Amino acid sequence: MEKPMAIVFKSNTGYTKKYAELLAEQTGLPVYSLEQSDTLSEQTPIIYLGWLMAGVVQGYKKAVKRFRVCAVCGVGMGATGSQIEDVRKNNNIGAEVPVYTLQGGFDLNRLHGVYKFMMQVMKKTAGRALAEKQDRTPEEDVMLKLLMEGGDCVSSDNLAEVVTWYEQQA
Ligand SMILES: Cc1cc2nc3c(=O)[nH]c(=O)nc-3n(C[C@H](O)[C@H](O)[C@H](O)COP(=O)(O)O)c2cc1C
Repeated sequence: MEKPMAIVFKSNTGYTKKYAELLAEQTGLPVYSLEQSDTLSEQTPIIYLGWLMAGVVQGYKKAVKRFRVCAVCGVGMGATGSQIEDVRKNNNIGAEVPVYTLQGGFDLNRLHGVYKFMMQVMKKTAGRALAEKQDRTPEEDVMLKLLMEGGDCVSSDNLAEVVTWYEQQA
């Protein structure tokens, strides 16, 4: 697979944007939001980052129509490195394309409309279930705290695997 020449992302509340910018710093690649990526030539090889909604990498379908997507990063509330096979399946990402998941953040105040409503429900249902769970894993503790209090888990350390993969591309 050829070496990516740009980073393209779609973010709703800013966490995916933060990862895309950190990745740009670490790789030296230019970074574009999907909305502003019209200036990039069609079939440019890219790394795509999109926020996760119900397991779907937002904007990926559009990105794959226009660019050569060399790697996909889904940014969600789950732990970095979790849900990878689900994300690959839900989004029909071929086995030759590496998939990474990165833990983003959650801020109910940055959400609007139906997204806000969905997460209010999620907070009540999944939040309550997690709160009542006796033997929570450390990852579940983080998730519970995120859901209840909101928070930002974006860190450049979470990008280590993506950066290593990028550096290995010819
Ligand atoms: C409606 C909705 C559905 C979501 N579904 C998932 C999901 O399936 N898996 C996950 O890990 N995170 C999920 N999240 C959490 C977001 O992906 C997470 O907050 C992410 O950091 C948002 O990135 P952004 O700030 O770039 O928009 C969901 C959030 C919303 C609002």
